[in-house]
Formats: sequence, structure tokens, C-alpha cells
Amino acid sequence: MPSSSLTVLCLASYHKGHDFIREAHRLGCRVLLVTSESLRDADWPREAIAEMFFVPDIDKQWKLSDLIAGVSHLARREVIDRIVPLDDFDLEKASALREHLRIPGMGETTTRHFRDKLAMRVTAASAGIPVPGFVHALNESRIRAFCARVPPPWFLKPRWQAGAIGIRRIENEAALWSALNELGDDVSNYLVEAFVDGDVLHVDSIVYEREIRVAVASQYGTPPFNVTHGGGVFTTTLLERGTPLDTEVLELNRRVLTALGLVRGVSHSEYIRGKDGSLVFLETSARVGGAHIAELIEAATGLNLWAEWARVEQAGGNAAYTVRPPRDEYAGLIVSLARQASPDLSAYSDAEVVWRLAKPHHAGLIVRSPSHTRVQELIANYSKRFATDFVATLPAAKKAMD
Ligand SMILES: Nc1ncnc2c1ncn2[C@@H]1O[C@H](COP(=O)(O)OP(=O)(O)O)[C@@H](O)[C@H]1O
Ligand SMILES: [Mg+2]
Repeated sequence: MPSSSLTVLCLASYHKGHDFIREAHRLGCRVLLVTSESLRDADWPREAIAEMFFVPDIDKQWKLSDLIAGVSHLARREVIDRIVPLDDFDLEKASALREHLRIPGMGETTTRHFRDKLAMRVTAASAGIPVPGFVHALNESRIRAFCARVPPPWFLKPRWQAGAIGIRRIENEAALWSALNELGDDVSNYLVEAFVDGDVLHVDSIVYEREIRVAVASQYGTPPFNVTHGGGVFTTTLLERGTPLDTEVLELNRRVLTALGLVRGVSHSEYIRGKDGSLVFLETSARVGGAHIAELIEAATGLNLWAEWARVEQAGGNAAYTVRPPRDEYAGLIVSLARQASPDLSAYSDAEVVWRLAKPHHAGLIVRSPSHTRVQELIANYSKRFATDFVATLPAAKKAMD
């Protein structure tokens, strides 16, 4: 290994990021992985990892003090050049460690813009970016003023969650006060915002030195909230490039990432296109999108966001980062929970199918085509078939909510 190689400490409270780890290793970095004790035996790409460390966890939750003590101990014998959070929930741990050890990268203030849904709203709104009306679920007179200003329905939402967990739709002011009371002292960890009826879009980006180097816009078939809370089939497909919607959402995405201050890395950001056609900013993150969106983007563009992120981290603002131009194809992703333990997808045999999900009680695939229309056709057709072939009646996420 060249002596100039970097030591990259990856944090992964959940099991993910293999392609990041492999690419960082391939680039000559010394990769250290910190993960949850409960994931000790998971199939990590061990050939690419120099050393692994385990943090005691309860359901993947770590005590920050354990992490800081453990990594500080490690830093007695290792010079750590980068700290990379592979999961959304690892972002603030990474920034706390960077601040503690004075390691370059995103600090606590900027990290908040990519984790805390209230912070991202406040900063985006003050930069003139359109956002749903919102209020911190805390000060009573401000909440009353919000209710008078913004007609229901509203969404009551935790500031730090993901996967639509803990979000409730509220129909009137009495229901809001009772929901806020139920939260007790936890209420300050929530915000209330206008429900914007419309399509939910996402833009997946690679950023280097504040410049968006690659951005791909897609649209969910059904808004994620409806899938998580109502069940059914999750789909997303790339937007047709160069259409007014594509151009507009990419421009809004550029403004959002600039306003929130992402210097380098990857981002999965979401937008709602209301019934009147106008776009509002929904949320952003500084990570690779979950739910197999990385595989979707790779199918369409040939770019693996995890691997590109490793290359961005290695360049680190000190060297040029060059990315191969994305292939201009289209792709669509479809996933649902399945009644069957190992659903049989063999009847989904069109030549455009390039990826199949291998996960118990799940059915999923990705199609790829140079034609946007063809992808739309296939995903519409497969959605109908998935609903009868596989869909389980009670979605797991709803179970978890109840
Ligand atoms: N203000 C809103 N108006 C309409 N739908 C919303 C709103 N906020 C959230 N949603 C719905 O809930 C889903 C999850 O919300 P989001 O803020 O993206 O949190 P998460 O981090 O859980 O993905 C969205 O994809 C969308 O379907
Ligand atoms: Mg979301």
C-alpha cells in the first residue's frame, strides 16, 4: 500500500455501504469499519476492511459516549484522515467525532441541515426556497398562528427519522393539540407542516467542492408515505431528461444543496410537485438513497453512487475528482412485500429486467431501457401484476407503527 494512502473510518450502525468500502480499498485507502455489535457476523466485505470495531447497540442504537471513547482510543495509534457515515443515522455521530478529533469534513452545524427536518426547512426557507408552511411543534402561540395561517391537513413529523416512520397526518386543530399533548416532552423533536398533495420526486446527486457533478431526477409512483402507511407497491422511475419538470427540479435541487452547504459527497433529496404544478422542497440528506435507489441509478447511468462517494472522499478537496459522463438511459425500480418467503419472479422475463431483489418476503426488480416510455410501460404493467402476484396485505412498516 502506498505510504500516502488515507485511513478512512466508516461508521455503519446498519448493514450497508459495501460498494463504498470496496472502492475505498481499491483506491488504496486503509478502511476501518465501526459497526453495531449485533452486526458482527454480517457479511461485510472483509477482504476490503483493515480492521473492524463493534459498538454495543440496542436495535442499532449506539451511545455517542461509547463511540467517542472507542474511536479516541483508536486514534492513539491511528491517524484518521476521513470519517464517513454510511447510514443516515450515522451522520451526526460522524460530525461529533470529527469535531472531537478535529478531523476535516462536515461539522455539526452543516450536518444538521442534512439530518434535522426542522433545520433544513428553516435554512431553505430563509434562502427563498419554496417549502410547505411549517412550525416547530413547541411554542403554543406560534402553533396557534400556524393553524390560523395554514389550512389542514397537516403532517406531524419527527425531526430525526427516516422511512416515513413516526409521521402522522392530522386533520384538524383539536387532533393536533391532542397529538402534541400525547408526545409530552418529546414534542420539541417534532415539526408540523402543511400537507402538500402531489407527486413526490427525488434527485440523487454527486457533489464536489460545492459543485453538482451529477444529478439524476426521478419520480415515485406513489408517495412513500402512502406506501409505508397504506401498503402496496413501491416504484420509482427516472424523469425524462430535458423536460420542463426535469429541468425545474434539477435547478431547485442545485439551489437547495447550495443553500444547505454540501461541500462534497452524495445527496438524496426529495421534492413535492403540488396539484398546481409547482415544486416545494421536501427533505434532503447527505447519503446514498435507500430502498435500492443506488441500484436504480446505476442501471440507468452506469454510475455507482457508493463507489463515486468513495472517490469523492479520497479526492477530499485536495485533488481533482473526475467522473465518467453518466450513460443517458432510463430505469425503473419496483419493490413490494411478498406473501411468499421466496417469491418467484421468473414470469417477469422482459429483456429490460437487469436486477432482481433477493430478500425473504420481498419482490423487487429493476428495468433499464434507452426509452423513457418503455420503462414507464413496464413499471405500470409490473405494478398491476405485483399487486396480485406478491403483495402482502399488512405491510411490515405499518405493523412496526402500530
Ligand atoms: N408536507 C408534506 N406533504 C405531503 N406529503 C408529505 C409531506 N411530508 C412528508 N410527506 C410524505 O411522507 C413521506 C416521508 O416524509 P419525509 O419528510 O420524506 O421523511 P422520511 O425521512 O421519513 O422520508 C414523503 O415521501 C411523502 O410521501
Ligand atoms: Mg423522505
